[in-house]
Amino acid sequence: MGEGVLIVGGGQAAAQLIASLRQGGHEGPITLVSEEGAVPYQRPPLSKQYLSGQFDRRRLLLRQPEYYQSRGVELLLGRRVVSIDRRQKRATLDTGGEIRYDRLVLATGSSLRRLEVPGGDLSGIHYLRSLNDSSRLRAELAAGRRIVVVGGGYIGLEVAATATRMGAAVTVLEALPRVMSRVVSAEVANWVADLHRQSGVRIHTGAQVRGFAGENRVEGVETTGGSFPADAVVVGIGVLPSSSLARECGLREDNGVCADEYCRTEDESVLAAGDCARAVNTLLGTAIRLESVQNAVDHGQVAASVILGNPKAYSGAPWFWSDQYQAKLQIAGVAAPDDETVLRGNPGDGAFAAFRLRNGRLSAVEAISSPREFMAGKKLIAAQVSPDPNLLADASVPLKELLPS
Ligand code: APR
Repeated sequence: MGEGVLIVGGGQAAAQLIASLRQGGHEGPITLVSEEGAVPYQRPPLSKQYLSGQFDRRRLLLRQPEYYQSRGVELLLGRRVVSIDRRQKRATLDTGGEIRYDRLVLATGSSLRRLEVPGGDLSGIHYLRSLNDSSRLRAELAAGRRIVVVGGGYIGLEVAATATRMGAAVTVLEALPRVMSRVVSAEVANWVADLHRQSGVRIHTGAQVRGFAGENRVEGVETTGGSFPADAVVVGIGVLPSSSLARECGLREDNGVCADEYCRTEDESVLAAGDCARAVNTLLGTAIRLESVQNAVDHGQVAASVILGNPKAYSGAPWFWSDQYQAKLQIAGVAAPDDETVLRGNPGDGAFAAFRLRNGRLSAVEAISSPREFMAGKKLIAAQVSPDPNLLADASVPLKELLPS
């Protein structure tokens, strides 16, 4: 028998951790407690193929329920861990039941930022995080429906693209002067906004939502710059790490559960993985909290390696993607808003890349429908090679020539 592993949270990090533990030969008990009613599933299609009806529910599941059964994983779905006693190594469930652990992995993910304005709880106002959220929103999308999206980030713009393709009339209200400003350069953000406008989406930046109009159901969105009639509203204004359990049991928490490069908290029996964790990344040389599939998968593998007794540090270049209409945005690395931008290719051609540099050091690549530039950029970042910006900008110089051999 090996150690008893208790995993709190049933997202991508948890699914990876389970797979890596069993593949690595862990024979001890594994228990997964998830407040969601489903086994771990992929979230990215919730704003795309699942929302449009192209994927069914089964296709979203990372592994089918039989997998967990055959691997001896106990699933406690629709259940919450409400407190943790680290001294006794015991977690208490919402049902009052208690579970003992040798290793506890916090994989609690993130929770939605809510828009706290008058009318915010009217029906017809949607948020998108879970499978159920996506199913409910899908029922609202149809040709001719007026959909107002609050927030021009990943969720807002992906929903805007999906709804537009389904024939809805979409308006996006973004608070900042630009869409996607948290994650991409001005050049890429402007290109994405233009793509939406060409597809018929109205985008209003600098929009401050004051409240929602309607009696029982939402009928419009009131902003400082005017009112927007709506048959339904989608709010996508970011997420916050779900780290209250960690905080309440006295673990360090600062924009996520603080962890070292092995996803270990200061308590050697407790690890943290995925969106909820701010772990050290050895390539970046700093602790960072990321919201991405790749980060959750990496953390799941790192946490498993620790439990298996063969620790592998969290390293490697972070990467992200977004599909909107026919365009694929791929990002590797993490740029600060004021990093320099070097363009390769012409945005007018529908495919180009923006390389981001800080003091001459390559921090990120943002590629629009340019998978080769993305791959090469990711390798450059991982190898910590920062080519001359003139060479990066010169499309006649193959990027692979800039890579270390
Ligand atoms: N009104 C309008 N826009 C707002 C407001 C507001 N009150 N508050 C924030 N915003 C804008 C932000 O400026 C930003 O452009 O909402 C956008 C939120 O974008 P993201 O931070 O990318 O968050 P979101 O789109 O909600 O996605 C959350 O889900 O897709 C996954 O992991 C991905 O990190 C992403 C997460």
